[in-house]
Amino acid sequence: MKEEIGFPYILLPDDMFHHAAGGYGGEGTLCGSIGSCAAIINLVAYDDKKTHSKLVADLIHWYSQENFPSKRYDDLAANKDQIQKIPNSPLCHASVSTWMMAAGASYTEKQRKDRCAKVAGDTAYRTVEMLNEHLVGKYAFIGAKRSEETESCLSCHGSDAMYNEKGLNDCLTCHDDHTK
Ligand code: HEC
Ligand code: HEC
Repeated sequence: MKEEIGFPYILLPDDMFHHAAGGYGGEGTLCGSIGSCAAIINLVAYDDKKTHSKLVADLIHWYSQENFPSKRYDDLAANKDQIQKIPNSPLCHASVSTWMMAAGASYTEKQRKDRCAKVAGDTAYRTVEMLNEHLVGKYAFIGAKRSEETESCLSCHGSDAMYNEKGLNDCLTCHDDHTK
Protein backbone atom coordinates (compact mmCIF):
# COMPACT_ATOMS: atom_id res chain seq x y z
CA MET A 1 0.00 0.00 0.00
CA LYS A 2 2.95 2.27 0.62
CA GLU A 3 4.00 1.73 -3.00
CA GLU A 4 0.59 1.75 -4.67
CA ILE A 5 -1.27 4.39 -2.64
CA GLY A 6 1.43 6.32 -0.76
CA PHE A 7 -0.09 8.70 1.83
CA PRO A 8 -1.15 7.96 4.57
CA TYR A 9 0.37 4.46 4.45
CA ILE A 10 3.82 5.86 3.74
CA LEU A 11 3.80 7.27 7.29
CA LEU A 12 3.36 3.87 9.01
CA PRO A 13 6.65 2.66 10.49
CA ASP A 14 7.50 -1.01 9.72
CA ASP A 15 7.90 -1.78 13.44
CA MET A 16 4.60 -0.19 14.45
CA PHE A 17 3.06 -3.47 15.63
CA HIS A 18 6.15 -4.97 17.26
CA HIS A 19 4.52 -4.60 20.70
CA ALA A 20 1.76 -7.04 19.61
CA ALA A 21 4.12 -10.06 19.61
CA GLY A 22 3.33 -12.74 22.19
CA GLY A 23 -0.21 -11.44 22.65
CA TYR A 24 0.84 -7.83 23.45
CA GLY A 25 3.96 -7.27 25.50
CA GLY A 26 4.32 -11.05 25.87
CA GLU A 27 1.15 -11.18 28.02
CA GLY A 28 -0.70 -13.75 25.86
CA THR A 29 -3.86 -11.65 25.51
CA LEU A 30 -5.35 -11.02 22.04
CA CYS A 31 -3.32 -12.72 19.28
CA GLY A 32 -1.13 -9.89 17.97
CA SER A 33 -1.85 -10.78 14.35
CA ILE A 34 -5.55 -10.04 14.95
CA GLY A 35 -4.82 -6.73 16.69
CA SER A 36 -2.43 -5.54 13.99
CA CYS A 37 -4.77 -6.52 11.16
CA ALA A 38 -7.70 -4.93 12.99
CA ALA A 39 -5.81 -1.62 13.05
CA ILE A 40 -5.26 -1.84 9.29
CA ILE A 41 -8.95 -2.70 8.73
CA ASN A 42 -9.90 0.41 10.73
CA LEU A 43 -7.56 2.55 8.62
CA VAL A 44 -8.91 1.24 5.32
CA ALA A 45 -12.61 0.56 5.94
CA TYR A 46 -13.71 3.07 8.62
CA ASP A 47 -17.19 4.48 8.00
CA ASP A 48 -20.29 5.59 9.96
CA LYS A 49 -21.98 2.21 9.37
CA LYS A 50 -19.33 0.52 11.54
CA THR A 51 -18.14 -1.51 8.56
CA HIS A 52 -14.66 -1.61 10.11
CA SER A 53 -16.01 -3.13 13.34
CA LYS A 54 -18.06 -5.75 11.47
CA LEU A 55 -15.02 -6.74 9.42
CA VAL A 56 -12.92 -7.02 12.60
CA ALA A 57 -15.59 -9.22 14.24
CA ASP A 58 -15.63 -11.47 11.16
CA LEU A 59 -11.82 -11.68 11.20
CA ILE A 60 -11.89 -12.71 14.87
CA HIS A 61 -14.50 -15.42 14.22
CA TRP A 62 -12.56 -16.61 11.18
CA TYR A 63 -9.34 -16.81 13.24
CA SER A 64 -10.99 -18.75 16.08
CA GLN A 65 -12.18 -21.45 13.67
CA GLU A 66 -9.20 -21.62 11.31
CA ASN A 67 -6.97 -24.70 11.22
CA PHE A 68 -3.57 -23.04 11.81
CA PRO A 69 -0.98 -22.88 10.42
CA SER A 70 -1.69 -23.21 6.69
CA LYS A 71 0.93 -24.70 4.37
CA ARG A 72 0.95 -21.50 2.30
CA TYR A 73 4.39 -20.43 3.54
CA ASP A 74 6.04 -23.86 3.70
CA ASP A 75 8.43 -23.05 0.83
CA LEU A 76 9.89 -20.24 2.92
CA ALA A 77 9.81 -21.87 6.35
CA ALA A 78 12.39 -24.13 8.01
CA ASN A 79 9.55 -26.19 9.53
CA LYS A 80 7.18 -27.53 6.87
CA ASP A 81 3.92 -29.51 7.08
CA GLN A 82 3.39 -28.60 10.75
CA ILE A 83 0.63 -29.98 12.97
CA GLN A 84 -2.53 -27.89 12.60
CA LYS A 85 -4.91 -26.89 15.39
CA ILE A 86 -8.10 -24.84 15.49
CA PRO A 87 -7.60 -22.32 18.36
CA ASN A 88 -11.34 -21.97 19.26
CA SER A 89 -10.32 -18.60 20.69
CA PRO A 90 -8.79 -15.31 19.52
CA LEU A 91 -6.45 -15.30 22.51
CA CYS A 92 -2.71 -15.78 22.00
CA HIS A 93 -2.56 -17.89 25.16
CA ALA A 94 -5.24 -20.38 24.07
CA SER A 95 -4.13 -20.42 20.43
CA VAL A 96 -0.42 -21.02 20.92
CA SER A 97 -0.67 -23.23 24.02
CA THR A 98 -3.13 -25.65 22.36
CA TRP A 99 -0.83 -25.83 19.38
CA MET A 100 2.37 -26.31 21.43
CA MET A 101 0.82 -29.14 23.43
CA ALA A 102 -0.27 -30.91 20.22
CA ALA A 103 3.11 -30.33 18.53
CA GLY A 104 5.17 -31.24 21.61
CA ALA A 105 6.86 -27.86 21.26
CA SER A 106 7.98 -25.31 23.81
CA TYR A 107 7.74 -21.57 23.37
CA THR A 108 11.36 -20.71 22.55
CA GLU A 109 11.71 -23.37 19.83
CA LYS A 110 12.06 -22.48 16.16
CA GLN A 111 9.04 -24.65 15.25
CA ARG A 112 6.85 -22.50 17.52
CA LYS A 113 8.24 -19.31 16.00
CA ASP A 114 7.58 -20.66 12.49
CA ARG A 115 4.03 -21.57 13.48
CA CYS A 116 3.27 -18.09 14.81
CA ALA A 117 4.93 -16.39 11.82
CA LYS A 118 2.68 -18.48 9.55
CA VAL A 119 -0.40 -17.60 11.62
CA ALA A 120 0.50 -13.90 11.25
CA GLY A 121 0.91 -14.42 7.49
CA ASP A 122 -2.40 -16.32 7.25
CA THR A 123 -4.23 -13.61 9.17
CA ALA A 124 -2.74 -10.83 7.04
CA TYR A 125 -3.64 -12.82 3.90
CA ARG A 126 -7.26 -13.21 5.04
CA THR A 127 -7.40 -9.50 5.94
CA VAL A 128 -6.26 -8.51 2.44
CA GLU A 129 -8.81 -10.90 0.90
CA MET A 130 -11.59 -9.39 3.03
CA LEU A 131 -10.60 -5.79 2.29
CA ASN A 132 -10.26 -6.44 -1.44
CA GLU A 133 -13.71 -8.06 -1.55
CA HIS A 134 -15.16 -5.24 0.56
CA LEU A 135 -13.70 -2.50 -1.65
CA VAL A 136 -15.32 -3.96 -4.79
CA GLY A 137 -18.61 -4.45 -2.89
CA LYS A 138 -18.38 -8.25 -2.89
CA TYR A 139 -17.65 -8.98 0.76
CA ALA A 140 -20.45 -11.04 2.35
CA PHE A 141 -20.59 -10.33 6.09
CA ILE A 142 -20.76 -13.46 8.19
CA GLY A 143 -21.77 -11.77 11.43
CA ALA A 144 -22.35 -13.58 14.69
CA LYS A 145 -22.00 -17.32 14.23
CA ARG A 146 -21.83 -19.04 17.58
CA SER A 147 -22.06 -22.55 18.94
CA GLU A 148 -25.41 -23.81 20.28
CA GLU A 149 -24.00 -23.81 23.82
CA THR A 150 -22.89 -20.18 23.56
CA GLU A 151 -26.28 -19.19 22.12
CA SER A 152 -27.90 -20.88 25.11
CA CYS A 153 -25.70 -18.95 27.60
CA LEU A 154 -26.48 -15.71 25.78
CA SER A 155 -30.22 -16.37 25.90
CA CYS A 156 -29.91 -15.38 29.58
CA HIS A 157 -26.64 -13.42 29.80
CA GLY A 158 -26.77 -11.69 26.39
CA SER A 159 -28.18 -8.43 25.06
CA ASP A 160 -31.80 -9.68 24.79
CA ALA A 161 -31.90 -10.65 28.47
CA MET A 162 -29.81 -9.80 31.57
CA TYR A 163 -26.96 -8.43 29.44
CA ASN A 164 -24.47 -8.84 32.28
CA GLU A 165 -21.83 -10.37 30.02
CA LYS A 166 -19.75 -8.76 27.29
CA GLY A 167 -18.09 -10.87 24.61
CA LEU A 168 -19.11 -13.41 22.01
CA ASN A 169 -16.37 -16.01 22.30
CA ASP A 170 -17.14 -19.63 23.07
CA CYS A 171 -18.18 -19.50 26.78
CA LEU A 172 -17.34 -23.14 27.44
CA THR A 173 -13.66 -22.69 26.65
CA CYS A 174 -13.47 -20.90 30.03
CA HIS A 175 -16.70 -21.61 32.01
CA ASP A 176 -18.62 -24.70 33.02
CA ASP A 177 -22.31 -24.92 32.14
CA HIS A 178 -24.07 -24.19 35.47
CA THR A 179 -27.47 -25.01 33.95
CA LYS A 180 -26.62 -28.72 33.67
C1 HEC B 1 -31.73 -19.87 32.18
C2 HEC B 1 -30.87 -18.72 32.22
C3 HEC B 1 -29.37 -18.96 32.21
C4 HEC B 1 -28.64 -19.68 31.29
C5 HEC B 1 -29.14 -20.48 30.08
C6 HEC B 1 -27.24 -19.54 31.69
N1 HEC B 1 -27.15 -18.76 32.82
FE1 HEC B 1 -25.43 -18.25 33.80
N2 HEC B 1 -26.51 -17.42 35.28
C7 HEC B 1 -27.88 -17.21 35.26
C8 HEC B 1 -28.29 -16.55 36.50
C9 HEC B 1 -29.71 -16.14 36.85
C10 HEC B 1 -27.10 -16.38 37.26
C11 HEC B 1 -26.98 -15.76 38.62
C12 HEC B 1 -26.90 -14.26 38.43
C13 HEC B 1 -26.88 -13.52 39.74
O1 HEC B 1 -26.61 -14.14 40.76
O2 HEC B 1 -27.13 -12.30 39.68
C14 HEC B 1 -26.01 -16.93 36.47
C15 HEC B 1 -24.69 -16.93 36.86
C16 HEC B 1 -23.62 -17.25 36.03
C17 HEC B 1 -22.23 -17.09 36.36
C18 HEC B 1 -21.71 -16.56 37.68
C19 HEC B 1 -21.12 -17.65 38.56
C20 HEC B 1 -22.04 -18.81 38.78
O3 HEC B 1 -21.72 -19.93 38.31
O4 HEC B 1 -23.09 -18.64 39.42
C21 HEC B 1 -21.50 -17.50 35.29
C22 HEC B 1 -19.99 -17.55 35.15
C23 HEC B 1 -22.45 -17.94 34.28
N3 HEC B 1 -23.72 -17.77 34.75
C24 HEC B 1 -22.10 -18.44 33.04
C25 HEC B 1 -22.99 -19.08 32.19
C26 HEC B 1 -22.60 -19.86 31.04
C27 HEC B 1 -21.17 -20.07 30.56
C28 HEC B 1 -23.75 -20.34 30.48
C29 HEC B 1 -23.90 -21.25 29.26
C30 HEC B 1 -23.21 -22.54 29.33
C31 HEC B 1 -24.85 -19.85 31.27
N4 HEC B 1 -24.35 -19.10 32.31
C32 HEC B 1 -26.19 -20.11 31.01
C33 HEC B 1 -28.73 -17.58 34.24
C34 HEC B 1 -28.42 -18.38 33.17
C1 HEC C 1 -11.34 -16.40 27.68
C2 HEC C 1 -12.10 -16.92 28.80
C3 HEC C 1 -13.56 -16.55 28.92
C4 HEC C 1 -14.55 -16.64 27.96
C5 HEC C 1 -14.42 -17.10 26.51
C6 HEC C 1 -15.78 -16.23 28.62
N1 HEC C 1 -15.52 -15.90 29.92
FE1 HEC C 1 -16.89 -15.23 31.28
N2 HEC C 1 -15.40 -14.82 32.57
C7 HEC C 1 -14.07 -15.18 32.42
C8 HEC C 1 -13.31 -14.75 33.58
C9 HEC C 1 -11.82 -14.98 33.78
C10 HEC C 1 -14.23 -14.10 34.44
C11 HEC C 1 -13.94 -13.44 35.79
C12 HEC C 1 -14.62 -14.17 36.92
C13 HEC C 1 -14.29 -15.64 36.96
O1 HEC C 1 -13.13 -16.00 37.14
O2 HEC C 1 -15.23 -16.44 36.78
C14 HEC C 1 -15.53 -14.19 33.77
C15 HEC C 1 -16.72 -13.71 34.32
C16 HEC C 1 -18.00 -13.99 33.82
C17 HEC C 1 -19.25 -13.69 34.51
C18 HEC C 1 -19.37 -13.06 35.89
C19 HEC C 1 -19.13 -14.17 36.90
C20 HEC C 1 -19.10 -13.77 38.35
O3 HEC C 1 -19.09 -14.68 39.18
O4 HEC C 1 -19.08 -12.57 38.64
C21 HEC C 1 -20.27 -14.15 33.70
C22 HEC C 1 -21.77 -14.10 33.98
C23 HEC C 1 -19.64 -14.69 32.50
N3 HEC C 1 -18.27 -14.58 32.62
C24 HEC C 1 -20.33 -15.24 31.44
C25 HEC C 1 -19.75 -15.62 30.23
C26 HEC C 1 -20.49 -15.99 29.03
C27 HEC C 1 -22.00 -16.08 28.92
C28 HEC C 1 -19.56 -16.23 28.05
C29 HEC C 1 -19.82 -16.61 26.59
C30 HEC C 1 -20.55 -15.63 25.78
C31 HEC C 1 -18.24 -16.03 28.65
N4 HEC C 1 -18.40 -15.64 29.96
C32 HEC C 1 -17.02 -16.21 27.99
C33 HEC C 1 -13.54 -15.81 31.33
C34 HEC C 1 -14.19 -16.06 30.15
